[in-house]
Order: sequence, then C-alpha cells, then structure tokens
Amino acid sequence: MVTAADPSGEGGDFFELRRLVNPILLLIAVTLPCAILYQVLSPVDPTASSLGFLPTVVPAVNSIDLAHLEGEDARLERVLREAAMEHKTIILTTLNAAWSSPGSVIDLYIESFRTGEGTRRLLDHLVIVTLDMKAYARCLSIHTHCFVLLTEGVDFSEQKDFLTDGYLKMMWRRIDFLRVVLEKGYNFIFSDADIMWFRNPLPHFRQDVDFQIACDHFTGNSSDIGNRPNGGFKYVKSNNRTIEFYKFWYYSREMYPGYHDQDVLNFIKQDPFITEIGINISFLSTDYFGGICEPSRDFRKVCTMHANCCIGLPSKVNDLRVMIDDWRKYRSLAPEAKQLDDYSWRVPQNCSASFSRKNSTRE
Ligand SMILES: *[C@@H]1O[C@H](CO)[C@@H](O)[C@H](O)[C@H]1NC(C)=O
Ligand SMILES: *[C@@H]1O[C@H](CO)[C@@H](O)[C@H](O)[C@H]1NC(C)=O
Ligand SMILES: *[C@@H]1O[C@H](CO)[C@@H](O)[C@H](O)[C@H]1NC(C)=O
Ligand SMILES: *[C@@H]1O[C@H](CO)[C@@H](O)[C@H](O)[C@H]1NC(C)=O
Ligand SMILES: *[C@@H]1O[C@H](CO)[C@@H](O)[C@H](O)[C@H]1NC(C)=O
Repeated sequence: MVTAADPSGEGGDFFELRRLVNPILLLIAVTLPCAILYQVLSPVDPTASSLGFLPTVVPAVNSIDLAHLEGEDARLERVLREAAMEHKTIILTTLNAAWSSPGSVIDLYIESFRTGEGTRRLLDHLVIVTLDMKAYARCLSIHTHCFVLLTEGVDFSEQKDFLTDGYLKMMWRRIDFLRVVLEKGYNFIFSDADIMWFRNPLPHFRQDVDFQIACDHFTGNSSDIGNRPNGGFKYVKSNNRTIEFYKFWYYSREMYPGYHDQDVLNFIKQDPFITEIGINISFLSTDYFGGICEPSRDFRKVCTMHANCCIGLPSKVNDLRVMIDDWRKYRSLAPEAKQLDDYSWRVPQNCSASFSRKNSTRE
C-alpha cells in the first residue's frame, strides 16, 4: 500500500491513487476557503524543550504577528547565509517524519554524499527543510543546517495519505517557500531526499539557463518541452524571471485544484505566459541525473540516482540501499576496471520501473 512515502510527491508514485482521489480532492478544494494563510515558522529554541516531549501535533498558529514573522524571516536568512557556497548557491531538501527515522531515507541521503566522489563537502551547503517537529528533531541530531517550515493547522508528523488536504497544502507550501528563497537572492539545487548524490552536479548546470530540471524520461534533447520532468531535482537561479515563474506556478494551483505541483508544472510548461516571463528551461539528461524510471547507466558519468518509479517506503529504502552498495563496489574497483563500461545497477529490485514507467506518466 502507498504510505506517506514521498514528501515531495514528485517521485511519480501516486499516479494510480491520484486517479481515484481526484474527485474527492476537487470536492475538498472547492469546499475549503480559497485563501490559506501560510506562515514561515522556525521552532522555539530546540534546547528549551526536551526532544522526548515534542508534541506530535504541532500547535496551530492562530495569530500572525508581524514582529514575530520578521523574526522567523531572519532565521531563514541566517540558515541560508550559513549554508551558502560561493555565488549564493545552496542545496535544499525537504524532510518529514516518515522519512526521518534512523535507517530511513534521510540517513541514506547523507550517506550518499559521504560515499560520493567529491560530494562530502557539499553537505556543508545542504539545508534540510523539515516539515514537522519530529523531522526537525532528527535533523538537529544528524546535520548542521536545519530549518523547520510549518503550515498553519496542519500536522505533517504523522503519515499523510496522498488524498488528504494536508498533503497538498504541504506540496504547495514548498513551492511558495522556494519562491521566498529565490527572492532572498539564493540560487538553489533542490533535491528530494530519495536522490543519491554520487558526483557533484554543479559542473553540469548551464549558467545561461534559469531553470534546469531532472526527468523521469529524457528524450535526448535538453530543450524539448516533451521531456517528462521530475521536480524532485532542479537547479534554479535567482532572478526576476524565476521569481515570476514560481509565483505563476503557485497561483496556477487554483486553476487545477486537487493537483500537486508536479502535475501543474506539466500543465503550465507550455503556457504562453512562460514565454512572456522570458524564463528559459532546460531538461537534465538521465545520463547524469538518472533514477529507477530511467537509470544513469554509465557509472563513469552518473551524478545522481532517484528512487522515482517506486511504490512504498520499504521498497524505496531497499533499493536506495542497493544503489549505495553498487556505487561503493564501483568505487572500490581498480582504476582500469572503472574505465570499462561493464558495470550495471542491480536496481530496480523492490521498486518497479515497468510499473511506474506506465503508471507515473504525467501528461
Ligand atoms: C536565457 O534567458 C536569458 C535572459 O533572457 C538570456 O540572457 C540567456 O542567454 C538565455 N539562455 C539561453 C540558453 O537561451
Ligand atoms: C530540440 O528541441 C527543440 C525544441 O523543441 C528544437 O527546437 C530543436 O530543434 C531540437 N533539437 C534537436 C537536435 O532535435
Ligand atoms: C529585478 O528587476 C529589477 C528592475 O528591473 C532589478 O532592480 C532587480 O535587481 C531584479 N531582481 C533580481 C533578483 O534580479
Ligand atoms: C523486497 O522484495 C523481496 C522479494 O520479493 C522481498 O522478499 C522483500 O521482503 C522485499 N523487501 C522490502 C523491504 O520490501
Ligand atoms: C499500472 O497500474 C495498473 C493498475 O491500475 C496495473 O494493472 C498495471 O499493470 C500497471 N502498469 C504496469 C506497466 O505495470
């Protein structure tokens, strides 16, 4: 069964469920007030509360007071400043409780940086954006740069089913958050935590392109709008075009109630307004940025591997482990053996490319 496996919702896991639940979501969406007030909120001083007693339900924020908001904003700025590399670039991932337990996705994510080629130092520039207090507590115990992003009245600490209103709120909360990061002048590499980093992706990004995104399926042409993007991995430069684009993306959710950001991106990617904004978009090749849907077959090239096309958290964790294991074995090969193109992934095992190749298609 599908659990709260993918806090990003961009792994292509939910297509089937989505078909069933869209009518419900539509109903929810039209019966709820359109405007939902969000707030960027850092937690109280973590040392002030014993982690063993963190509330499982994050208290709803009832009153928004400007001074307080400014305080939170300052905290975000501090985290970004501390984590940024040269040219104000940061790496961001999001984390919820379901992915934060020991041995789960976040541990594998960090392990991949440590086993990758020249990726360990990139951890200094990674901000883990946690979506609930449990994930935040775990982040503090394993990583330097943690930020908690709460959504008013929504508890993300428990498993959230795809069909809940809370799930969608969180997806969209994230898009809005990324816009704020851009407005603060930071370029970012956003990466889902179920993406293993084996090499530094930065040399593969074009500096003359605003928005670069990985794909479930890559057509072979990085400017072909027919590519099937996967929002789990993207490099976005901070400028007026990308800020406008994120605003447009966020507001488009109202035109497509019940859909998450990934789907809406596919709906709007050919919208004339995109041309008007002047943003240029490029799709990253699966040769370097692969996944279960379409692996980076050549170990000499791979930068990242995403556990997309995968249903269920246990399967995901299983296959991520196998990927790291395969990568370790590759790295331990003698230099001559590494030059040969005769090494291949043992994934998918519990994830299934065939299932999702069809079922995760997003039009
Ligand atoms: C992307 O757009 C910017 C601004 O219009 C432009 O300077 C840049 O050359 C464009 N890049 C490509 C690859 O067209
Ligand atoms: C790649 O796609 C773009 C946009 O669809 C198109 O203009 C271009 O001709 C394509 N290039 C190749 C080599 O097919
Ligand atoms: C956006 O455009 C304005 C005016 O055109 C400029 O002053 C500002 O620096 C730009 N902001 C960014 C983030 O590029
Ligand atoms: C993975 O699949 C194997 C074989 O079907 C099964 O025995 C195992 O329990 C699965 N593991 C997980 C974590 O789902
Ligand atoms: C897609 O999902 C359906 C169930 O809705 C399943 O019967 C089918 O086998 C799946 N497709 C593939 C290619 O596995």
